[in-house]
Amino acid sequence: MIDIHAHILPQIDDGAQSKTMAFEMCEMAARSGVTDIIATPHMMDLYASDEFSEKVNVRVDFMNRLMEEKGIALRIHKGAEVFASGDILFSPDLHPFTLAGSRYLLFEFDFGEATLNFAKEVAGIILSQDLIPVLAHPERYRFTLSNYENINRLADCGVLFQCNIGSLTGELGKKEAVLAREMLNAGAVSFLGSDAHRVKFRNTDIRGMLSSIKEGKKKVDYAKIEPLLTENPAKLLRGEHVENPSFATLKKKLF
Ligand SMILES: [Fe+2]
Repeated sequence: MIDIHAHILPQIDDGAQSKTMAFEMCEMAARSGVTDIIATPHMMDLYASDEFSEKVNVRVDFMNRLMEEKGIALRIHKGAEVFASGDILFSPDLHPFTLAGSRYLLFEFDFGEATLNFAKEVAGIILSQDLIPVLAHPERYRFTLSNYENINRLADCGVLFQCNIGSLTGELGKKEAVLAREMLNAGAVSFLGSDAHRVKFRNTDIRGMLSSIKEGKKKVDYAKIEPLLTENPAKLLRGEHVENPSFATLKKKLF
């Protein structure tokens, strides 16, 4: 399996707080059947790309050396989770922040404040730089939770979606679980990721989360999960195109 969204690099964001924690998170991922992780620290200052890239490179190299020394079969790739604030409307160069040097850019919004119009504007800027927008955890924003059809509107603009596995288990909240499961079952999701920040809660144990989904008999079309953790992310890593899914209108409004 390949995890395209994880905060496993030490002391760069609110993820791994030390080298020891970073190592434990990576070891847990490898034990869980993960072969590759794209490290995606939060990127908050789009005008500090050189400094950010330098910090990420040093940490990715360190972690890969550590994996080799400890005989752990896990490859760590460079990435970012770009926080789309108003700054992005000035179109800073987004290429330094893509996932593993691909054309795919993982981005997120403020959970409460983002609107459909802002999201569409951001997607347009990403696409205008010949990059492909991948929205991180679409199941966690107020504007998507309040109107599921906004997911369709974003897909119409060419946005792909990465849901958190922890949303499918219910770990991240009930409303989030309902939307994530609805999206998965409709075929709207292109990638799943751990979005791991820690060793205990919100961790890298994807296999454990998958068994809890299976055993929990949640309303999840289990067969749809695997390609989102294998085929699609493998294509991304190889620099191949991941087809945009076509799916029916998601009708629900939660509030
Ligand atoms: Fe994240």
